[in-house]
Formats: sequence, structure tokens, C-alpha cells
Amino acid sequence: MKKVTAFAPATVANVSCGFDILGFAVDGLGDKVTVSFNDKEEVRVTHIEGDQGKLPKAIEKNTCGVAVTAMLKDLGFNGGLDIALYKGLPLGSGMGSSAASAVAALVATNRLLGNPLEKAALLPYAIEAERVACGAGHADNVSPALLGGFVLIREYHPLDVIPLNVPRGLYCTLVHPHLVINTADSRSVLRKNVTLKDATIQSGNIAGLVAGLYQEDMGLISRSLNDVIAEPSRSILIPGYDEVKEAIKKAGALGCGISGSGPTIFILSPKEEIAWEVSQISQKVFEKIGLDIDVYVSAINTRGAYVIEEKK
Ligand code: HSE
Repeated sequence: MKKVTAFAPATVANVSCGFDILGFAVDGLGDKVTVSFNDKEEVRVTHIEGDQGKLPKAIEKNTCGVAVTAMLKDLGFNGGLDIALYKGLPLGSGMGSSAASAVAALVATNRLLGNPLEKAALLPYAIEAERVACGAGHADNVSPALLGGFVLIREYHPLDVIPLNVPRGLYCTLVHPHLVINTADSRSVLRKNVTLKDATIQSGNIAGLVAGLYQEDMGLISRSLNDVIAEPSRSILIPGYDEVKEAIKKAGALGCGISGSGPTIFILSPKEEIAWEVSQISQKVFEKIGLDIDVYVSAINTRGAYVIEEKK
């Protein structure tokens, strides 16, 4: 039976100053989805592993189901399809879990159908899945999950997604405290209005970060990792955040921020050695607090989602 399996990586959305408009992909961690035709003429999520029974299988609630259904509708495909989801990412972690599932499902389905769509054309369907999963169709996880690297969403309507440069040597540490923060809740704590002063500071940092990525200027990247819009409201939900932020700078990291809507903290370092050192520093901070964490050290993933297995 014809079957395709695709992988999509974990992602860090916002990257501090770029709320809803910046994201990057990390190596190693991610979700896998296998799709195959069925003779039932319906799209079904038939199997989910690694979610501790927490994800819905209903097609209109599952991010894979939503994304694939929307894509098939546009393609005018009326046949049936089975979707099996293998979660590698923890739910509610801020590492782009819902995005990775939707993107892997779309990439696998596109290949199963003989690649009718360009990779980037899959994005609107993944955004629709995010809208269903967390109430907001943000693209800063799905874009890097699909395309890899750093990505800027310059505009949502119409969608204008710009892949950015990935500086050589840049490394990421992800510190995942064992707390669950769901994105809809984490968005609800945000202030609805931004002052002119904060808008000016934030714009300067976004521009600085993009320039720093292109110039491969680690100092400029470091100075630009500053968020005056979301972090002040959200960091309160993450014990140990301020301590980690202070400690990692002393060790030579470029800076840190909340990964997406949290609770994962991402730390950027100018080389791998420092990325490992700050992982240990973070571990010590959380040991003191008495909160379990998982830590991952990774290069920036420049490949994005891809097909890992195909049975004809
Ligand atoms: N930009 C989104 C947010 C990312 O911060 O709510 C969620 O992972």
C-alpha cells in the first residue's frame, strides 16, 4: 500500500522581539506523520502516539486533520486518507508542537498526491490548523517548521513570508520546564495596546535582529534579543525565567527569550560550547527552584520539513 511519512521540526516563534512575525527551526526534535489512501472516501486520524491520549482524533479538531482537509478541498480531491501522528514534541511546551504535526501531515500528503503544490503553497493550510488549535492563525511556527532556518512573516494579508540568513556557528539551547502553558491562555495575558515608546523600541530590535542575522554580527543579535511587548506579561508564568536570563549572559550567550508562548526558554549562543555550558547553568537554576526540566542543544535547522519514507 502506498504510504508516505514526513518529519517536521520543533520551532522557536517570536525570537524575543518578533511577536507573531519571526521564528526559526531547531534540529533533532520534531513530529512524524504517515499518510496513506483509504477506500472510505473520508479523511481520518487513525492513530496518535506520544500524546498521552490528550490530542483529539476528530478531523475538525486535530491540527493534521484540519490542515489536510483544507488542502484536499482546494485540490478537489474527494478520496479517503488515513493519517497516523507520532508526536516527538511535548504539548503546550512552546516548541511549536501543533505546527510540527500540521506541517508534517501536509508535506506527507503533498508527496502522496504526487507533489501538486510547491512547499511554500502548503503554508495557508498549516496556518488554518494553528487558528483551530489556539484561536489565532499565527505563522511564526509553521513557516520555519516547513521551510527551515529563520523566517520573517512580513505581512499576513496577503501572506508574505521571507526566509532570512542563518549565521554560521549560531547555536540554540532549549530549556523546557515541566509546565504546560497553552497558547490561547498565554495570548490572553497580553496587553491589547502598545505604547508608541514600546513600538519604537520593539521595531528597532526587530530591524537590529534581522540586520544582525545578515551581517552575522553576534553582538548586534545579542543587543536585539529584547522584547518589551510579550515578555513582561508572559515571563511571570515561568518560574526561574529572570534567573536564567541573568546567568546565561555571564557565560557568553547572546541572550534568551520565551520560545513561542512558553514555558520553554530559548537561549542563543555564538558557538556550540557555550550552548552546552548554558544548558548546565539553566539546569542548576531549575534544580534550586525544584522544577524538572528537559534541555536540548541544537544547531539552527535549515532544512525544514521533509519526506523521510515512501512506500510505493
Ligand atoms: N507567536 C505566537 C505567540 C507563537 O506568541 O502566541 C505561539 O507558539
